[in-house]
Amino acid sequence: MREIGNNMKITVNDITVSYNDDGEDQAPVIIFIHGFPFNKAMWDKQLKALKENYRVIAYDVRGHGASDFGTGDFSIDLFADDLLSFMDAMKIDKAMLCGLSMGGYIALSAIEKHPDRFDALILSDTTCLADTPEAKEKRLKTIESIKKKGVSKFADESIKNLFAPESLSTKEKEIAHVREMILNTTQESLYKTLRAFYERKETCSKLQDINVPVLILVGKEDKITLPEAAQVMHEKIEDSLFSIIEHAGHLSNIENPLEFNKQIEEFFSTVYYSG
Ligand code: MLT
Repeated sequence: MREIGNNMKITVNDITVSYNDDGEDQAPVIIFIHGFPFNKAMWDKQLKALKENYRVIAYDVRGHGASDFGTGDFSIDLFADDLLSFMDAMKIDKAMLCGLSMGGYIALSAIEKHPDRFDALILSDTTCLADTPEAKEKRLKTIESIKKKGVSKFADESIKNLFAPESLSTKEKEIAHVREMILNTTQESLYKTLRAFYERKETCSKLQDINVPVLILVGKEDKITLPEAAQVMHEKIEDSLFSIIEHAGHLSNIENPLEFNKQIEEFFSTVYYSG
């Protein structure tokens, strides 16, 4: 019998990974992968909504939340290897993935490496495009700025871009939670993950190989990974579904959980429980 609970620990590669695990033993498994620089707690409302019908797992990516940092540089490849080793350690043969932003980068890399381990994919507020030269430059400037001005200033600036303008005036509790997640990420992890984004390769040319059901979601006001970028993925993945989440920016699952959960419940139920 597996243990159900929050903040449980398991050894994965050279690190200890912290994860939440809920739902029935035999239910289909959904793994949620958070964005940067957040942690598994960003999925609390999704785990609560889906645990009746699914085994729901959210874990902290290396260097985030309560997972260890390990040694050496970070890369999306390394994060994807961690995900696959996490599934091995948990004895999960196959899972459905739901990744937001960085979580989407990791999901795309993992499915490219091991298409046989996944039965469905949700790509939320993410992109298959690599950083432009300007965006790469901005990653380096952000590292310098955190070193000079500190994480609190970085959190303030990030929040302005993460949330839709209307959320900035209505989602006080959610903003406080996001700020707390950012402040709880170590500076070293911020630098290493920003470096990993700088090095990140495009995955658009690999999308045609995906042959599991895919749902693409994006907040209408996402300024970080634009709806146009989501549309590009939709066009490249045959039979993918695409939906814009109203009243949301980059953090669509946090800004409009009702709509986000409705979309993902409908999608997962067609993957698993139809016909
Ligand atoms: C995220 O939410 O994971 C980040 O915005 C990703 C990025 O900056 O590319």
